[in-house]
Amino acid sequence: MENIIVEHPYNGDKHVALIRLNRPKVLNALSTELMQELVEALFDLEDNDVVRSIILTGNEQAFAAGADIAQMVEATPIDQITDNRFRSWQQLAMITKPIIAAVNGYALGGGCELAMSCDIMIASDSAKFGQPEIKIGTTPGAGGTQRLTRAIGKSKAMMMVLTGEMIDAKTAYDWGLVAKVTPVKTLLQEAYELAKTIANRAPVAVRLCKESVNKAYEMSQSDAIDFERRNFYLTFASRDQKEGMRAFLEKREPEYKGD
Ligand code: HXC
Repeated sequence: MENIIVEHPYNGDKHVALIRLNRPKVLNALSTELMQELVEALFDLEDNDVVRSIILTGNEQAFAAGADIAQMVEATPIDQITDNRFRSWQQLAMITKPIIAAVNGYALGGGCELAMSCDIMIASDSAKFGQPEIKIGTTPGAGGTQRLTRAIGKSKAMMMVLTGEMIDAKTAYDWGLVAKVTPVKTLLQEAYELAKTIANRAPVAVRLCKESVNKAYEMSQSDAIDFERRNFYLTFASRDQKEGMRAFLEKREPEYKGD
């Protein structure tokens, strides 16, 4: 792959994989090719039974400074449709394993949207978030106006989207966009600890939890609670539920097999 680097096992841990966006000369601008490689790598990890959690990161300058402006500048609306540029973005939603975005530096435009598409976002204290599309005469197009609004509320989202100005990591934390802020040096270690903790939980239950939390954005609350309860019942078909509860009662650590 030319635009991303996949590390699996990560840190010698076969349950964790790390994907690094790798176009440093253009601050990891998200070209069509990069997005296709990213989705291909995610599907490989999705299909790999030993992988239980995935970290997505960039480098110290940028998680990603947005979609590739050079690739878009002369595009027509029909190009956008016929090139199917958004297919990769739609495919991201098909990944059932948890993805942790570990954000250093800029997460702008499509970069912020990509980080928000992940399940948990943590950031280093150098991270900067923004939806600057308005500054280049366009609008967010991969969920920015929707996910940002749900995460931080209408007024703050409007301020970011209409001005295009960035917020720093502390503000992103205070506003609820990111779960945790770390020093730059320990970002990946913290991401790994989180990924490892999740990887130690029962994999089927992890998938069902991810699915249920995501329904909070998609359904009415009563329908989503019904959905959640059905996923709860479903865990009782798994061996890992029996193992988890028996281990608790026998005062030992559970050994989850993923079924
Ligand atoms: C293409 C980009 C880029 C981008 C940076 N570069 N962002 N190329 N697409 N999104 C390139 C620059 O052209 C430059 O290349 C190199 O990366 C370094 O960038 P500089 O601007 O020189 O760095 P700096 O002065 O430090 O400024 C950093 C920055 C700025 C503030 C992040 O680069 C910036 O504003 N970038 C654009 C951010 C943006 O508008 N993103 C939204 C894109 S639209 P050269 O060759 O000159 O060295 C979008 C829509 C998504 O994301 C829709 C859904 C897919």
